Amino acid sequence: MNYNPNVLDCAAAPIAEAWSWVADRNSPNLIDMCQAVPAHLPPQSLLDHLADVIRSGEGATYTDIRGIEPLRVALAENIRGRYQGDCQADDIIITAGCNQAFCSVIDTLCEQGDEVILPLPCYFNHQMWLSIRGVNTQYLSFNAETAEPSVEQAAALINNRTRAIALVTPNNPTGATYSPDCIERFYQLAKEHKIALIIDETYRDFIDDKIPPHALFEHSDWRDTFVHLYSFSKVFSLTGHRTGAVAAGAGLAEQLQKVQDCTAISAPHAGQLAALYGLQHLHDWKLEKAAELQHRAILIKQAFSHPELKYRLVCAGAYFAYIEHPFESNSREVVKALIKNFDLVSLPGSYFGQNQEKFIRLAFANVHEKYFDEVISRLLQSQSTLEL
Ligand SMILES: Cc1ncc(COP(=O)(O)O)c(C=O)c1O
Repeated sequence: MNYNPNVLDCAAAPIAEAWSWVADRNSPNLIDMCQAVPAHLPPQSLLDHLADVIRSGEGATYTDIRGIEPLRVALAENIRGRYQGDCQADDIIITAGCNQAFCSVIDTLCEQGDEVILPLPCYFNHQMWLSIRGVNTQYLSFNAETAEPSVEQAAALINNRTRAIALVTPNNPTGATYSPDCIERFYQLAKEHKIALIIDETYRDFIDDKIPPHALFEHSDWRDTFVHLYSFSKVFSLTGHRTGAVAAGAGLAEQLQKVQDCTAISAPHAGQLAALYGLQHLHDWKLEKAAELQHRAILIKQAFSHPELKYRLVCAGAYFAYIEHPFESNSREVVKALIKNFDLVSLPGSYFGQNQEKFIRLAFANVHEKYFDEVISRLLQSQSTLEL
């Protein structure tokens, strides 16, 4: 059998590869800062609700391709509250997670040979899907001082094959939250060139909920340009229930349904009911968890201010800390050595695109802050013992 060369050329699935370097996954000494997963289960009330839903058989059926109406209504209301702009249930398509949302949007917008602009470092699954689909990626370089991509650089890259600019904010892997001004300028650029501005906002519930992340939903014509991607995975600890969403204009939504029908048919029904429960009942729980994470972000920054530490914290927020390591070796070798010698699992910067060999990503959301001193102590030891 022959394989699609685009798939053959695509990098291995990063999280699985990083775990393959871990000899004993059950080692009690292991500190897992690898994958972005909430450190807690959903609250018991949600688990009980889900159990009832499954027992009743309600969650066992397909739903409308676009998802169940009450969830689309509730998410549109949530977006209006969070962004103080306009969004209606008709703008929402529920997907099988935010990754599937991205894949479906790209399939709806792009054909082979088209181009999408991504800032570096970029979320690996975005890059992988583009390369699998034969869509060329144009990169915006990483400014380690501001951790914000350059609109001017994006403007210079746009040509007649460019279909979209895709941002992630709060960002994976850097943890940076792009300013509303930066996002607005990307929107104006995309609008001017009649291309899409896709923003993956998987982590938008983990930053200050009193400040709207941007003002794009306030534009009366946002639907012509802006595509908002969302995930229920992290906010309600539902990673296994595969529920996410797209908010977009009617044109894109109509075409996207064809893609969605061929792949997921509908997002998992039980997951949709769980997400609906979350939006309706877990507002306070969500804020409590967000506050814990914001506190954890402060503590990880403090931990990295240790005077003898040669690992430099470049940026941190939401779920992630992006760290410059002190070695000459590439980031894979550093991560492998930290796993082998110090039972500390992180991800190499190289998974997040070109010129990222100096960096590693720590998903601090996974680990209680009581372990941060131990993380720093292992990194300090690595400085004096690893020859890389
Ligand atoms: C930026 C970003 N988008 C999407 C996802 C995946 O979300 P979902 O579980 O909803 O597919 C992740 C998970 O790590 C992510 O970091």
